[in-house]
Amino acid sequence: MNDEFKDQDPDPRDTASGAREEGVTMAFHGYHHITTTVTNGRADVQFHVGLLGLRNVKRTVLLDGSRPFYHLYYGNEYGEPGTLLTSFVFGPEKPEGKKGSGQISSISLSVPKESLNFWVDRFGEHGVAHEEFDRLGDRRVWFRHPDGIDFQLVGVETDDRLPWHGSDVPPAAAIRGVHSVTVCTRETDELHYFLDEGMGLESRDTDGSVSSYAMSAGRAGQLVEIDHQPEIEQGSWGYMRNTVDHVAFDVKEATAQLDFKDHLEAMGYIDVTEPRDRNYFYSVYFRTPAGAMFEATRSHPDGFEKDEGLDSLGSCLQLPKWLEERQPELIASLETLEPLD
Ligand SMILES: [Fe+2]
Repeated sequence: MNDEFKDQDPDPRDTASGAREEGVTMAFHGYHHITTTVTNGRADVQFHVGLLGLRNVKRTVLLDGSRPFYHLYYGNEYGEPGTLLTSFVFGPEKPEGKKGSGQISSISLSVPKESLNFWVDRFGEHGVAHEEFDRLGDRRVWFRHPDGIDFQLVGVETDDRLPWHGSDVPPAAAIRGVHSVTVCTRETDELHYFLDEGMGLESRDTDGSVSSYAMSAGRAGQLVEIDHQPEIEQGSWGYMRNTVDHVAFDVKEATAQLDFKDHLEAMGYIDVTEPRDRNYFYSVYFRTPAGAMFEATRSHPDGFEKDEGLDSLGSCLQLPKWLEERQPELIASLETLEPLD
């Protein structure tokens, strides 16, 4: 129903220059959000808010399809790009996703390196299975979302992103934001070409099967990891439960977002969408040669304060204007899935 986008800005390039430039390689500088698909909404809130100490900054619905599902957002105080994790809550209705090639196989979050012991103790206290290990020069802790999605905490020297201070996690240990994602793929050659020529990422280090790519300066929040697994089968692509659905990279300007779309199309990667209005941001989705779904995302100027005050972010269901008429029906439908409170 809502694939059509509302209130979309006109293409600013049509009035600015009258012509579209081809061959522009956009410099991504960091993440916007990472979206998972989960089964149990309350367990998802407990994981992100209760365990990880993130703020629930928005409670809304998935904007594709007529059947509503919760879409929950977590991040720092303002829900700033680069701190955002989001979840589609599918309950038992969708099939279980198949892990494999072409999927984001792990989400890594940045924490101060001296706080890793705090997190190991915290996981122990909460009964969360975890394991410490080293990769690409960083000390890390592996753990899992209750629906089986792999996560890592990566200890970093410096990360000046402001964390959420409203949880029981001490500010000195709080999660600063996304560190990186790991994309699992059975073939790497064309993916390397795509990341390099298509997205402007710079190849960095390799550690075993995992290679890193950098946006901008390559700090925490500016890294993408590729895990080469030549024997692994293809993973699922669609809306299925308990996988990472897609990863979004932050774009500041409408022109840059459209230039990037044109750039991919000029390379023959035409599996890329027009900007879609997702109420809090505009999204251009593009499929990578590995199969993983990426997104180039430009925030709405008001961000998550568009429809709620800063102090009450995430406190109640918010719907885009074009769905407000359906609110009673949508709430009734959501409650058949699972009440969140
Ligand atoms: Fe997204």
